[in-house]
Amino acid sequence: MSGDRSKLSFDASVMTRRQLLQRFGLFGGSSLVLGTMNALDLMATTSRPRPVLEGNANARVIILGAGISGLVAGYELGKLGYDYQILEARDRVGGLAWTVKQGSEHTELGPDGERQVCQFDEGNYINAGPWRIPHSHTSVTGYCKELGVRLEQFVDDNTVMFSENPELGPLANQKVRLREVTSDMWGHTTELLAKAVNQGALDQQLTTEDKERLLEFLVRAGYLDGPDQLYSANEEARGSADVYDLNTLLSTPFVSQVRSVNAGTGGPAPVFQPTGGMMQIPLAFERAIGDRITRGAAVETVRQSDNGVSVVYRNTRTGERQEVTGDYVICCLPMSILKLLDVNFSPEMAAAVEETGHASQAKMGVQAKRRFWEEDDGIYGGHLFYMPYQEGGPGGGRGRNPIPSFSYPSNDFHSASGVLLGFYGNSQTPSILDGRPLVEVPIAHRIEHVVTATSKIHPQMREEFDNAYAVWWDRVEYSRGAWASSGATRDRLAVPDGRIFIGSAALSDHPAWIDGAIHAAWQSIEALHERAVQTTA
Ligand code: ALA
Repeated sequence: MSGDRSKLSFDASVMTRRQLLQRFGLFGGSSLVLGTMNALDLMATTSRPRPVLEGNANARVIILGAGISGLVAGYELGKLGYDYQILEARDRVGGLAWTVKQGSEHTELGPDGERQVCQFDEGNYINAGPWRIPHSHTSVTGYCKELGVRLEQFVDDNTVMFSENPELGPLANQKVRLREVTSDMWGHTTELLAKAVNQGALDQQLTTEDKERLLEFLVRAGYLDGPDQLYSANEEARGSADVYDLNTLLSTPFVSQVRSVNAGTGGPAPVFQPTGGMMQIPLAFERAIGDRITRGAAVETVRQSDNGVSVVYRNTRTGERQEVTGDYVICCLPMSILKLLDVNFSPEMAAAVEETGHASQAKMGVQAKRRFWEEDDGIYGGHLFYMPYQEGGPGGGRGRNPIPSFSYPSNDFHSASGVLLGFYGNSQTPSILDGRPLVEVPIAHRIEHVVTATSKIHPQMREEFDNAYAVWWDRVEYSRGAWASSGATRDRLAVPDGRIFIGSAALSDHPAWIDGAIHAAWQSIEALHERAVQTTA
């Protein structure tokens, strides 16, 4: 789509600032994008340093839950010489950090709960919980380094964009690449700026020398060509030389994805994933901790008194109940589980636990027989930025997205089959087949929803579909929800309740990240250690 180059003169009448802003605003623009990211707690934050704890305490600590926070709490207490035991209801460690691969299984909660056994090919997997580690989360990368967990790059850009809105003209109903839009937006804007410089529009701001240097920069940065300094796409980098014109691009939601650097997790700042799946992190902790983890131990009762704590758990294999005792408890369970247990909390803590909610999130891994996105479309990792269209819908025809997040694997490029993240989003998303919330429909129905929705963008999907695995966290026992939504209760959860300390990610200001779970564990052991050292001194 070659642009009408006559439109690219630096003429304020072509497009006023207001028009520009309106065009951005019409489709949400950057503020909406950032707002959405904040709402989902998707903004990467910078980690805190690991606390330096000193002194030895002669105390026994019972840790509830072998998710990331429980494992970190145990690992660090072990370094300080504590006697500790971690009770874990499942047969595996990791909690939400669960990598689903061949043979993984679970049975959904609820009267019609179905059992799934994962049929992915050997080597394929989907991270059903956390899946990306921003480089700034040094708490996580620090432990990966310490425990020998290999990291690889995770492509965290919206690499493919698709909208059905007919108003987008030539850009409607086709896979538009981020690299095309980025190249063209840089090309057009650098060309305009070069024109402005050459026409003397910036003479007030720049010296002659600065103007020359700036022009040099613009020519190089935007691939401007020839004496007129016109944008001419670098075909190899852009993917094709068929440039989109500026006016068309500005009327699309796609330009919202082009930023100098991305303040979220995407963009040039590296984002990682463990090679072989996120489970590699909890497994590495498990190897380091050894036999201090009791699996298949479903906690039922926690009692604290002036003298100590007692925890009763049910052995999930035998049904027998067993009691363990200690000096302190660190509770690293999700609040959705803790609120079901019998714990003699103070009324304040009981209320905080009760009031803490959880995000209803779900993921589905979809195995395709062939990596058609790589072979046919040259897509290597990243996400789909999909804007379905609904005539008369809000904001210029926005339809509800049936696949809020859809992503291509960043690993094992060119292997035979592959697993796409076919669905990541609210578990209540309505089915495009009959409008019912997906959490309520049979798993085969949820799969059909995903295959139908994604076939619009990737018509190969139906033929290449092999099998899928659905994790609707609300319906997963021992989780009963995804990350905590604990804003209002966080401060109350952080106050130790007698001998019980909360160490769950709900304590953190970014509970939807492994980094948050680690910070929560650190916070709990700092408080516990301070108390224990004073008590035993
Ligand atoms: N940490 C979650 C994610 O990466 C919210 O999607």
